[in-house]
Amino acid sequence: MITTAVISTIREQVNTWRAKGETIAFVPTMGNLHQGHITLVNEAKKRADHVVVSIFVNPMQFGPKEDLDGYPRTLAQDSEKLANAGTELLFTPTPEIIYPKGLAQQTFIEVPDIGDELCGKSRPGHFRGVATIVAKLFNIVQPDMALFGRKDFQQLMIIKTMVEDLSMPIEVIGIETIREASGLAMSSRNGYLTADEKHNAAALKRAIDSVISAVQHKKSPQHAIELAVQQLKAAGFTPDYFELRNADTLRQATAEDNQLVVIAAAYLGKARLIDNVSFYRHAQ
Ligand code: PAF
Repeated sequence: MITTAVISTIREQVNTWRAKGETIAFVPTMGNLHQGHITLVNEAKKRADHVVVSIFVNPMQFGPKEDLDGYPRTLAQDSEKLANAGTELLFTPTPEIIYPKGLAQQTFIEVPDIGDELCGKSRPGHFRGVATIVAKLFNIVQPDMALFGRKDFQQLMIIKTMVEDLSMPIEVIGIETIREASGLAMSSRNGYLTADEKHNAAALKRAIDSVISAVQHKKSPQHAIELAVQQLKAAGFTPDYFELRNADTLRQATAEDNQLVVIAAAYLGKARLIDNVSFYRHAQ
């Protein structure tokens, strides 16, 4: 595996592959890799001739009171996992390489509406930071396709919208969430949980499932959500949002919508956990 922080090295290698008519899949990450990330690499390998991964803890997507400084940086372990998984090219830029003029002088990308609600409401500017870094990384790597976890459902929709709106010739692929045996969605931020909190964290997926079951059994979604929020509070969470949305548009679900998503964020100890499950109201 070639590891480099240098943009021109990435471009030269990708150009060499492309000159031979070979395809490139890209997996952007912030490091501290878990099985969810390795699944993205494995899926990338199935779909393209070469896999490029980036590790960059992007300061632009962190709010002033968020965990940028404490975000786990585990490059040695991450490199080993990526090499074992068959990654050929690893891009590890510094903030100075990505934002040479500093964040305040950086051109940015903002995806309207869906970027301002749910996580965007509690984390103002977060999705502007995500869209901007992903666009920059896409321009540096110029992949045929890019893979993202569906755990970050709103992020995935924002990236798909950006790619469509800006006519980027890249296929954006969402890969199913990888979960612990308890149901807890794998996340780098699970590392902030104590053993007891990790045990209780599985309540988030159970709460989501309870709402799905209620909706599919034609019960009131609002009542089911109220019960789910109570369950979360009883497990020690401080819920941020817990909503039933249209899975295509992420707008509030109407009674006619069939493709739905239950999407939630909640604080537990030092961690802010997010999760979602998409489903059909009427069995297919
Ligand atoms: O999902 C993440 O890890 C990040 O938001 C991403 C897409 C790598 C952009 O920094």
